[in-house]
Amino acid sequence: MQEFQTNKGDLTQSRLIDTPANIINQGEVLVKVDRFAFTANNITYAVMGDHLRYWQFFPPSGDNAEQWGIIPVWGFADVIESSSDALAVGERLFGYFPPANELIMTPSKVTPANFMDASAHRADLPAGYNIYNRVNNEPAYDRANDNERMLLFVLHLTSYCLHDLLESNDWFGAEQVVIISASSKTSTGLAYGLADDDRAPHVIGLTSERNLEFVNSIKAYDSVMSYEKLETIDPNKPTVIIDMSANTDVLSRLHTHLGDNMRYTSNVGLTHWDEPRQVDGIIQQRSHQFFAPSHIQQRMKELGADEFGKRSVSYTKNSAAKSRAWLKINELDGVKSLADVYQDVCDGNIAANQGLVVVM
Ligand SMILES: NC(=O)c1ccc[n+]([C@@H]2O[C@H](COP(=O)([O-])OP(=O)(O)OC[C@H]3O[C@@H](n4cnc5c(N)ncnc54)[C@H](OP(=O)(O)O)[C@@H]3O)[C@@H](O)[C@H]2O)c1
Repeated sequence: MQEFQTNKGDLTQSRLIDTPANIINQGEVLVKVDRFAFTANNITYAVMGDHLRYWQFFPPSGDNAEQWGIIPVWGFADVIESSSDALAVGERLFGYFPPANELIMTPSKVTPANFMDASAHRADLPAGYNIYNRVNNEPAYDRANDNERMLLFVLHLTSYCLHDLLESNDWFGAEQVVIISASSKTSTGLAYGLADDDRAPHVIGLTSERNLEFVNSIKAYDSVMSYEKLETIDPNKPTVIIDMSANTDVLSRLHTHLGDNMRYTSNVGLTHWDEPRQVDGIIQQRSHQFFAPSHIQQRMKELGADEFGKRSVSYTKNSAAKSRAWLKINELDGVKSLADVYQDVCDGNIAANQGLVVVM
């Protein structure tokens, strides 16, 4: 058995560690990770590992463990041993797992639909990451959709939240929305939702030269341009920016170009995590961090969990269906294969139409 670890001091370095056999205690279950997705979102978990405590979910084993971290991944796992009255062997789970063969969990607050992992080291981490779906109890559950669900559901749930943020703030008074890192799955999920919304302003996708053709081909944006051409955006129109990139050079040029017409920037992602950081030209007072779990918690309180679930599931079903036209699932064989492509994921060298899935 192995687990995939990342060097906290240099995120491009990884290692595979052989792990000893797991022994469970009373109240615990042992799950075998079956498959998981891996995208730029997982690299962001590593970049924010200390700041947002992503390293805390799955403590690493092996020598010099304090220098290494385990990047959480979204995927499916099966219960293979149980000392819990609430979960039996054979249960299939969807949720947050380590890129490893197995995980010991402590089920609590178990309902037919889901449960929380009450492992002590996860107790004060955001609840949304500690909840697991018991998929065998879902009436429409179909294994054939597993790859798409773990690749897109979490990202498109964020797309839904961003659409909700824009809409419920009356588009921040904007006549155009600029989405940066337009080829990412979270961005395309948002673009599909805006395209279907008659009230939404004009939507511009900004991307790198090499992804221009792909972003144009999916026809989700009203217009598409490369980072080099961003100064051709009309600066006379009030504008809202959704930024998945954290490319401060692009942001600073865009803010400077738009001036007072830059009405609001939502800082969502860090796909360009390895670009040098600068602050000159960025309008900080109208730039706001976005954290999907907080938005979800707040809207569940306001709308009720059922209504939030109904709206978000309807949105994500639609955006996932549209993504089927171009998304090519690339199944990798185990964590060794993940280690082989990890550097390419860090460097942004995975084709934008690819969805990496690791099958254990
Ligand atoms: N705040 C939140 O709560 C939240 C929730 C979900 C996702 N997110 C964030 O949204 C972002 C998108 O995630 P995703 O999984 O949807 O991404 P993805 O589909 O894997 O995106 C791939 C794209 O990201 C860009 N990219 C990736 N690595 C790069 C690199 N090293 N250098 C330059 N460009 C690079 C490229 O787009 P371009 O060429 O178009 O730039 C590439 O086509 C992530 O940062 C993720 O963490 C945030």
